[in-house]
Amino acid sequence: MHAKKIFPLVLVVLGVFAVILAGCASQQSSLTGNAARGGQLYDKWWSALGVDEPATDHPLWVTQTTNTRTGANTWRCKECHGWDYKGADGAYGSGSHFTGFVGVMKMDGKDPDDILAILKGSTNPDHDFSSVLDEQALIDLALFLNQGLIDDATIVNADKTPLNGDADAGKTIFALCSTCHGIQGTAINFDNDSEPEYLGTVASGNPWEFIHKARFGQPGVVIMPAGVSMNRQTQEYIDLLTYVHALPTESLVTEGGRLYDNWWKAMGMAEPPPGDQPLWGHTNHQHPQRRRYLALQGMSRLGLQRRGRRLRLWLAPDRFPRNDECQRYVRGGIDGMARRHGESRSRFLSLF
Ligand code: HEC
Ligand code: HEC
Repeated sequence: MHAKKIFPLVLVVLGVFAVILAGCASQQSSLTGNAARGGQLYDKWWSALGVDEPATDHPLWVTQTTNTRTGANTWRCKECHGWDYKGADGAYGSGSHFTGFVGVMKMDGKDPDDILAILKGSTNPDHDFSSVLDEQALIDLALFLNQGLIDDATIVNADKTPLNGDADAGKTIFALCSTCHGIQGTAINFDNDSEPEYLGTVASGNPWEFIHKARFGQPGVVIMPAGVSMNRQTQEYIDLLTYVHALPTESLVTEGGRLYDNWWKAMGMAEPPPGDQPLWGHTNHQHPQRRRYLALQGMSRLGLQRRGRRLRLWLAPDRFPRNDECQRYVRGGIDGMARRHGESRSRFLSLF
């Protein structure tokens, strides 16, 4: 009699436990953080954090001799594990970046607490980054490795050509990039004038770096949009890479030569501006209209950059007149970006 009454109750209690257990099983980790930030930290973490870069070689660096870089570079996750996350099994399996170190692809879906432990030296005391990275930075990295990795082979072939991309769709995505990098991707030179490195250079020479930065942004360049925050899909990266892969890699002088001619065509505009050029008939180079033209030209070369702890307005260094009028246009540019993000200027700037 007694047992009969108690039996359904036991079932109910067991059922409740089953629900709780199921809840536990789907909850992977108690760590909370920002995997997208982790993706930036995988690169030059000191630029992303605004701290000093390491001055010595990483302790594990002496365990290899093939990669002859020294100093801060030896502390970048990507220098040992690759832009494609495959270490010696990927693009860094040969060439000047070869170290023979493992990749991190096995971390995909792994318990973030275990990954966090590895970053604190659980498998190798020399792999303890807690002396240079704070707890939140390490957690963000662990979350990035747990959920932010992709297999680049779904975007680019081993010979660096993109997979079946649609260049027109890529061009549409690139419109956003071109506001800073220019319509040809040559408005920002990442290297020097004699060996320029433009977006086209990166996309064709190191597509894995291109993909990582298109997904997570450039550390320290707070305003460059990260594809992951816009929830971009794999196909979009294929299309973007296909388009940028074909952009110029040669020097700005060459591009300038092209612009010397029908610049509106070179810039992808269908028509030249209407009417006469305002200087037609003027000889005064200080004419306000001319300054206005120069300032407008500079509008596409604007951004915000983090230098150490300071935010500074970033302007393409060349061909940018620094006068009051220009400053007004720069402010106008920020307002324009703020509007596109649906924010006021001050709220927009406070986001960084
Ligand atoms: C100087 C080279 C170097 C740097 C820099 C470096 N690692 Fe490593 N990493 C290694 C080596 C070597 C191993 C293998 C360690 C071992 O277990 O002996 C490793 C292992 C790992 C593993 C485990 C991989 C596996 O499959 O077991 C993870 C995860 C990892 N590193 C993440 C990172 C992250 C994140 C960073 C940047 C904060 C980083 N590493 C920076 C050299 C490096
Ligand atoms: C608001 C301005 C801005 C926008 C928009 C922008 N970028 Fe950037 N990007 C920068 C700046 C500034 C740098 C850093 C230049 C430097 O470090 O010399 C940079 C650097 C890069 C780099 C790194 C190149 C290298 O070798 O270090 C890549 C790749 C890149 N951008 C791709 C893109 C792509 C793809 C888009 C569009 C999806 C985009 N950017 C949109 C401003 C921008």
